Amino acid sequence: MVRPAVLITRRIPASVAARLEPVCEVELYDGAGAMSTEELHARLAGKQALMCLLTDRVDADVMDAAPGLRIVANIAVGYDNIDCAAARSRGIVVTNTPDVLTESTADFTWGLILAVTRRIAEGERLLRRGEWTGWALDFMLGTELRGKQLGIVGLGRIGRAVAARAGAFGMQVAFATLDADASRASTGEPSWTRLGLDELLSTSDVVSFHVPLTPATRHLIDRRAILRMKRRAYIVNTSRGPVVDEDALAWALREGLLAGAALDVYEREPEVHPGLVGLENVVLAPHLGSATVETRTAMADLAARNVLAVLSGAAPLTPVVA
Ligand code: GLV
Repeated sequence: MVRPAVLITRRIPASVAARLEPVCEVELYDGAGAMSTEELHARLAGKQALMCLLTDRVDADVMDAAPGLRIVANIAVGYDNIDCAAARSRGIVVTNTPDVLTESTADFTWGLILAVTRRIAEGERLLRRGEWTGWALDFMLGTELRGKQLGIVGLGRIGRAVAARAGAFGMQVAFATLDADASRASTGEPSWTRLGLDELLSTSDVVSFHVPLTPATRHLIDRRAILRMKRRAYIVNTSRGPVVDEDALAWALREGLLAGAALDVYEREPEVHPGLVGLENVVLAPHLGSATVETRTAMADLAARNVLAVLSGAAPLTPVVA
C-alpha cells in the first residue's frame, strides 16, 4: 500500500516526527527561515498533507500544486496565513492548534505588561550601556497596575486567560468582543465588565489585543482609535501585527498620547517599524508568545495528530475548515 506523504515546512521535535514516521513518508524542510513560494510548490507536489507555520503563505496556488492534498495543519492558533475559502472549495481540511498555547501566551502577555509599565526592558538597556549610576528615589519610575483597568479586546481563550490573571495584580477587567456571538462573551467572570470598543478604549489604562487578524480587525487601532484612548495608556499586542497600525502607534508614542506599548507581533515580520525601534517606551519582542519548549512541542504534536486523523479518514481534532 502506498503510504501518504506529508511535507513539514520547518524542524519539529523528534518525538513528533516519530509519531508520523510509522504512517507517512515525511519530508522535512530544514533550511533557514521560510521556504520560497517556488520551493513550497515543488516540495508539496504529490503530498497529501502539509504541516506549516504562520510564516508560510498557503494560498490557492499552493493548494493547486498538490491536487491530492487533504489537510493543511497549521502549527499555530492563528490561521490568517491560509486561504480558508480556497481550502473549503477544494475539500481540503484546515486545522490550527488552539488551547495548547493559551496559558503560555497569557503568561507572556503579562510579561509584556509588566515589562512596559515597570520599564524593565528600558532599564536593562540602560544598565547594559553602562549608564546606571546608582539607586535614586526618582529613578526610572513606572506605573502601578493595582487599581487600574485592563481592557481586553477579544475574549477568546487567550483573552480570558489574560483576564484571569488580572486579579493577581489588582487590576479590574473590562472586555470588548468584536464577534457577533455575544453569548460567548457573557460567560466571563461576573467581575469583568463588558464594554463597547470605544468605551473600553477611553477608560482602560492598559489595552491588550487578543483577536484574530481578519478584514474587520486589520488596523483596528489606527490614529482615530488612538485618539479615543485614555491619555497615557499602554497598548499591548500579542495577537497579529496588522491589528495595530504601526505608523499611527509610532506617532502616538512620539507625541506622548500613549505612555508606552509592548509588542510581540508586527505588520511586516520580521521587519519592525523604524519609528518604533528608537523609542525607549516600547518593548519589542520577536513573536515569542507561545515560545516554551512544552507549548511548542504540544503545538507540533497537535498538528501531527490532526494530520494522522485526517489521513486515516477520521475527523480532525481541531478543525478550522472541515
Ligand atoms: C502564534 O502567533 C500563533 O498563532 O500560534
